[in-house]
Amino acid sequence: NEIKIFSPATVANVACGFDVLGFCLDTIGDEMVIRKTEKKGIKITKIEGYDLPFEAEKNVAGVSALAMYNALQPDCGFEIEIYKKIKPGSGIGSSSASAAGSVFGMNVLLDYPLNKTQLTNFAMKGEALASKCEHADNLAPAIFGGFTLVKSACPLHVLELPTPSDVFATLIHPQIEIKTSESRAILPKDIPLSNAITQWANVGSLVHALHTSDYKLLKDSLNDVVIEPYRKQLIPHFDAIKKASLQAGALGCAISGSGPSIFMLSKGDATAQNVEKAIRDVYAKTDIAFETYVSKIN
Ligand code: HSE
Repeated sequence: NEIKIFSPATVANVACGFDVLGFCLDTIGDEMVIRKTEKKGIKITKIEGYDLPFEAEKNVAGVSALAMYNALQPDCGFEIEIYKKIKPGSGIGSSSASAAGSVFGMNVLLDYPLNKTQLTNFAMKGEALASKCEHADNLAPAIFGGFTLVKSACPLHVLELPTPSDVFATLIHPQIEIKTSESRAILPKDIPLSNAITQWANVGSLVHALHTSDYKLLKDSLNDVVIEPYRKQLIPHFDAIKKASLQAGALGCAISGSGPSIFMLSKGDATAQNVEKAIRDVYAKTDIAFETYVSKIN
């Protein structure tokens, strides 16, 4: 009647795939306990790590849980404990991890009435509370795992993409907060056709590279000419991090979700560790606190 889950951090956009591509990290995530109760309703009973609202209607995990609960009308209630490890506003899917965790856990305790697409749909209700819009590029990898592509958000259609066996992610999280809603507000409404052509060529070739484990093509595809020029201004030392990581052997470097985290992909754990060292050296020279991680993509 109780399940403890690891709800993973995720990287959305993956350079060229704004609101569409994402991947799942296997070493960073929240822990949650979901418990079936006789008393009906959704109750958040514990939150550790960060100061977040306990009212289910104001908490992303509560909102997604309520959406699923109201649709299924089960003959029980649920308590949710959240052990938040992913800092809100970090750009690695903090709200998505919470929104996905509650519905994932409830689904297990109800003996799997819903498939992953249906779970993602309910989780989107929680995510919308945080980002002021319903997008699934963090939720899809959190629920499906690996690399995902959101073919369409409404109706939701998620494609699971293959992960080449030797791809590792390195991340740096500068300890500043960027709200997704603000980071979306600075984006242009229209983009030049020439940039659109470059971007969709990159998305297509990145997907092909994942299917064929073509690391050279992956490297050539990890570019973002549409969003990065605007958002990088919000992230201190972005260009220096990118330069250092590419020199250290990364296949590519881009903003993780809406920032401030920055991710790099590398072939092999050793290169990913070298990249981590190189980017730590860049930020160590500044007065900004930061954390770095290396993670397999799972
Ligand atoms: N695709 C979203 C964005 C992810 O970049 O705004 C952040 O939640």
